[in-house]
Formats: sequence, structure tokens, C-alpha cells
Amino acid sequence: MAFKVTPWEVSGDVDYDKLIKQFGTERIDDALLRRIQKHSGRLHHFLRRRLFFSHRDMNWLIDQHEKGREWALYTGRGPSGHTHLGHLIPWMFTKWLSDTFNVPLYFQLTDDEKFLFKETLSLEEANGFAHENALDMIALGFSPKRLKILIDTEHAGLMYPEAIRVAKKITYSTTKAVFGFTNDTNIGQIFYTSMQAVPAMIPSILAGKKVPVLIPHAIDQDPHFRVARDVLPKIGYEKPASIHCRFLPALYEGGKMSASVSHTAIYTTDTAKQVRDKVNKYAFSGGRATVEEHRKKGGDPDIDVSFQYLTYFEEDDKRLQSIRDDYESGKMLSGELKAILIEKLNRFLVKHQEKREKARTRLDKYLLKA
Ligand code: TRP
Repeated sequence: MAFKVTPWEVSGDVDYDKLIKQFGTERIDDALLRRIQKHSGRLHHFLRRRLFFSHRDMNWLIDQHEKGREWALYTGRGPSGHTHLGHLIPWMFTKWLSDTFNVPLYFQLTDDEKFLFKETLSLEEANGFAHENALDMIALGFSPKRLKILIDTEHAGLMYPEAIRVAKKITYSTTKAVFGFTNDTNIGQIFYTSMQAVPAMIPSILAGKKVPVLIPHAIDQDPHFRVARDVLPKIGYEKPASIHCRFLPALYEGGKMSASVSHTAIYTTDTAKQVRDKVNKYAFSGGRATVEEHRKKGGDPDIDVSFQYLTYFEEDDKRLQSIRDDYESGKMLSGELKAILIEKLNRFLVKHQEKREKARTRLDKYLLKA
């Protein structure tokens, strides 16, 4: 089946092996996992389960770490709506990296991007969501020392001079080839990729020396960083390394979780009842048509969206395996599997929402002051 992965569209049944070839990234192999594990102790379950599956220059980054160089993390979010679970995946992993390697995170909120790319989103709305989305990152438990938030339109004084240094090295024909822009594309979109390169330079700018940067992100953003990796060495910076995750599937089969199709996404702001209703009603099931058939033949966890979500949200490998076994054997019904997921998500969300509200008055402490 055909699939498409660009920074603005993910559709179809994504073949991640093909994508590695198409984008020219590297698979995360056992040797790399062992290298990470040497420093981290136990591997994060996103690595154990290959939910992070691809990278650029991770070995170089670990070399730098082993040489004792300071480095930094960078990730971001285009604030087009409330945060959903799909967004949290790379963020949770980034938090783990920050804790494990004792490095700061620069978090970019691209209100400019979403204004330029979304026909009906006003700049005020995009900026409002930037502030809302920031709360979700803070809620993951960062201290203000470790998390530095940049909002493009509010950090323009810092970012713009750096963005034009990048922009000067990118031709229209490059952006056309990388992003498929046409004569109808507004010129803000054409410029935008230079803004997304800037946080990869900021740690070096602030430190007054070269600071290696690792960017954890969902694989769809790779085209931006391909461009950034090409340009940065030309203007005095090192290429950022990156590590890429799969997309959390939409509740209903096919494509990634999308903020614009609200019933296929679970938001961090959803109530327990909304979560229950969405999972029960929409989560694509790998169960059989009737209970009898299910008991006889068992369900298929590999196409079951609730099970897929548990691979992200159930950290305990043994528990996950026993759920898989019970579902496959027909002992566990689709409704029971959904109930496990609902309870898991709601337990997480209740705590998250508390922390998220507390973050509201503390946001200012996290905004980068430079
Ligand atoms: N372009 C990304 C989006 O639409 C936002 C973003 C900016 C980002 N910088 C990033 C994502 C760095 C990942 C890593 O969501």
C-alpha cells in the first residue's frame, strides 16, 4: 500500500524500513543500543521495543559524550492545537535522555510555522496553543534549569539574526526539491525551515563554543534537519545528530494520530470519560467478530490499536507479554483489552493534568532568557 511521510502529511501504512532507505537515515542496531546502554543502564522501553528505530550520527554523539563534552537536546512542537498522546512520545523519551545523560533540553514552539502552514489558524491562536503545549512539556517533570523553551514569535530577537544566516545558504531550488514547494507556496513557508534550524545552534551561541546537539523527533521532521545538517557546518556549527521514532497510530486504523481529526486522537486535556468513550468507540480492534470466534481463534495484537498503545504506555515487559499471550489465545476479549488501556491512560492523565495546571503559573521560569 502506498504511504506518504512529509513534515505536513503522514498517510497510509508506513513502511519504516523503506523510509530509512528513502530518507537515508540509519537503523538503530544492536551495537548502538549496547553503546547507549553502557551509559544509561537499563534501556528505555521505547528503545527496547524499537519504537525509536532510526538515527543520524548517534555514534558520533556518544563519542562526544565519552570525550566528556557538554551537549544538549533539542526538540519542538508546531502548536496547531492541544497536545495529544502522539506528541508526548518523543517528549517522554527526550525527558529520559535529559535525566540519563544530565543534559538540558531546548524546546521550540513554532507558532510562526503553524500560522504560515494552516490556512485557518490565526497567529493569536497558534501563539495561544504554544503556551498551552509548553505546559505539557513542563508537566513531564523538567526543572527550569534543564528545560529552556523558545517560542518563535517571542524569541524573534534572538532567533531572527541566526535564521537569516541559515536562510542565506538555502536556495529556492533546494527547498523545492526537499519540500515540494511550488509557485503558489507562500514565501513564509519557504523561509520557515531556517527557523527550525536555529535551536540546533542556540546551545553553542549561548556557551560561546561548539556544543553538540541531539534532536529526538518523529521521523516526518527529518527533511528539515537534512537541510540543517547541510547548512550548519557552512556557518561554523556541527551537524546535529538525531534519533527518530515511529508515529503513534490514530485510534482508528491508518495514519498517525492527528490533532485535526479529534475523535482519532486522545488529548492530554481529555477527561476520563472522553478517553473511555473514544477508546471504546473508535480504537481499531484486532478482535474477532463474535465472542465464540474470538475464544477459538484469538485476537491479533499486531493490528489492534489498543495493544499498540500499550506498547508505548505499559513499561513492564512481562505484563505486556502476558496481555499479548492472553489476547492471542482468545482468553482476553477486545473489551477487556480496551479496559486495560483506558485505565492505564486515565491513571497517567489524571496526574499529568494536575502537573499541567501547576505549570501554568511557572511557565515564565522556563522561557529562555538570553
Ligand atoms: N515542525 C514541527 C511540527 O510541525 C515542530 C518542530 C520544531 C520540531 N522544531 C522541532 C519537531 C524539532 C521536532 C524537533 O510539529
